[in-house]
Amino acid sequence: MCGIVAYVGPKEAYPILVKGLKRLEYRGYDSAGIALYNEGINIYKKKGKVANLEEFIGDQSVVGQIGIGHTRWATHGKPDDTNAHPHYSGNGDLAIIHNGIIENYAPLKEALINEGHTFHTETDTEVLIHLIEELQKRDNLSIEEATRIALTKVIGAFAIVVMDKKDPGKLVAARKASPLVIGIGDNEFYIASDATPIVEHTNQVVYLKNEEIAVLTDKGEFSLKTIANIDQTPFVQELDLKIEELEKGGYDYFMLKEIHEQPKTIADGMRGRLSAEEGWIRLGGIHEYENKIINANRLIFVACGTSWHSGMIAEYLIEELARINVEVEYASEFRYRNPILSENDVVIAISQSGETADTLAALEMAKEKGALTYGVVNVVGSSIARITDAGSYIHAGPEIGVASTKAFTGQVTLLTMMALSLAHKKGMIPKSEFSRILAEFENIPAKIEQLLQSCDSQCQKIAEQIADANNALYLGRGINFPVALEGALKLKEISYIHAEGYPAAEMKHGPIALIDENMPVIVTATNMGSYEKIVSNVQEVKARKGKVIAIVFEGEQEIKKMADYTIEIPKTEDMFTPLLTVIPLQLLSYYIALIRGCNVDQPRNLAKSVTVE
Ligand code: AGP
Ligand code: GLU
Repeated sequence: MCGIVAYVGPKEAYPILVKGLKRLEYRGYDSAGIALYNEGINIYKKKGKVANLEEFIGDQSVVGQIGIGHTRWATHGKPDDTNAHPHYSGNGDLAIIHNGIIENYAPLKEALINEGHTFHTETDTEVLIHLIEELQKRDNLSIEEATRIALTKVIGAFAIVVMDKKDPGKLVAARKASPLVIGIGDNEFYIASDATPIVEHTNQVVYLKNEEIAVLTDKGEFSLKTIANIDQTPFVQELDLKIEELEKGGYDYFMLKEIHEQPKTIADGMRGRLSAEEGWIRLGGIHEYENKIINANRLIFVACGTSWHSGMIAEYLIEELARINVEVEYASEFRYRNPILSENDVVIAISQSGETADTLAALEMAKEKGALTYGVVNVVGSSIARITDAGSYIHAGPEIGVASTKAFTGQVTLLTMMALSLAHKKGMIPKSEFSRILAEFENIPAKIEQLLQSCDSQCQKIAEQIADANNALYLGRGINFPVALEGALKLKEISYIHAEGYPAAEMKHGPIALIDENMPVIVTATNMGSYEKIVSNVQEVKARKGKVIAIVFEGEQEIKKMADYTIEIPKTEDMFTPLLTVIPLQLLSYYIALIRGCNVDQPRNLAKSVTVE
């Protein structure tokens, strides 16, 4: 995975590319590079962040009205200057940027070496540009035709942009599995992995479809065909994205901004979808398939990482409220284990980006086996949103911090609505009770606002006490068990402290051996049904000198007496607690990472969306 940006038109490309790369940096930051055409193709590239590239370029001349830029998340070859994109072809006439993996690069490379090609990098990408050059030379093809034919020979995932010194003023862009969007300006075009580098220049965009190839010129020409050589008409859409949504808005980090946006993003996700006063809840995407979902053999949630945790919460909610059979699967496991699926199953993919390779592949398999597919997605127009039979957006707005926060609560909000609407349709909740529950649901954004105020400084103080820990344990029961997993993932991702999430009662089956005075144990203790059991779990930790940080309902006394620190959350229904209990866990991770001097928004080795296996 990586970020791709390109420009062709009358303006100077360099500032557009650098700014675009900074917007895309969340997608990968192993290296950054730019190629510009100015009587030849000049490549500038450097290991590390875009800022390193800028420093490296310094006052070198960067003239050119056509150019391509890349931020890398290395898959083939270590992250260094040499393996950084763009890559030249063998004769230096062509340059390429690539997002994805060329799976059959090894045999292609061998064949090209036999033809006399010499490679300078360890990347799969360099093989592709040599292949394009070879085809161009052998059959005297235009750059677009050579690129198209080369792409029929590669296996894997790609979004690429290619430029040719002998045919300047032209960019060739193509995609399969990895996303690519083209912005249309006045005799100019912008190309990017997502719309964030484009929005400040134009709101007219074309999302390239899978296996399409576009040619864009400095004369304002735009031609489109499939890689299989069938002409296509570009479908121009208006972009629904505001520039302010992409700025930090006064916060030090996107993650902190996104944590604080949650009252609004949750309210946005609910807007127009429920009314407590009138006693209804309606998810547009479900409506048409409601009967099929209610009568489904199983609902199978597929997802990765944080989105998988949301799926686990959905399992608790849907089974409890709507009494429909639910399973939750890691997309990466599901796709490879030949699961038993039929047209009576519904496969629901949860994904912030809508581009996660494993989740996409799991959906494709589910479609092949005849299951109905549904997407719970944040990024509008993303691949998952497009390939599913139906779906609902979570409307959380762009999430830039690599560690997911507002997308998680957006997903949980949507899945809670899904559970309630299915339960309502099945007549499982009496009318008056339903209105009361919905009224409480509508209060959640205000309760999060209140909680953000009340727990912020407390989370900072607790962070100071535990920031030196090497390990941490997160415990929760029932619907708050997935929240424990999410809390542990947040801590691992951004502060590099090893953390585990466990169902509280499982602790005594193993992890209890780890507990000593150096081990912070973060316990979510809001489940009214099993409160006494959690009290016992806390006692078990204290008996072994563990440091307990407990998240409890306001006014709670018993655990307060035992815990080293307690964080109070506003009272609510059990089913809504994940939306509140996760807030202090997000803040704790944030402040711990800050104290440890980590880059909160761009943790090492990670990237925002994982578009490779
Ligand atoms: C979340 O903090 C992680 N960065 C990661 O686990 C993420 O949730 C996962 O890669 C899934 O991404 P998606 O929701 O875009 O599919
Ligand atoms: N596979 C290519 C590489 O390792 C591209 C990876 C990416 O998407 O950044 O360089």
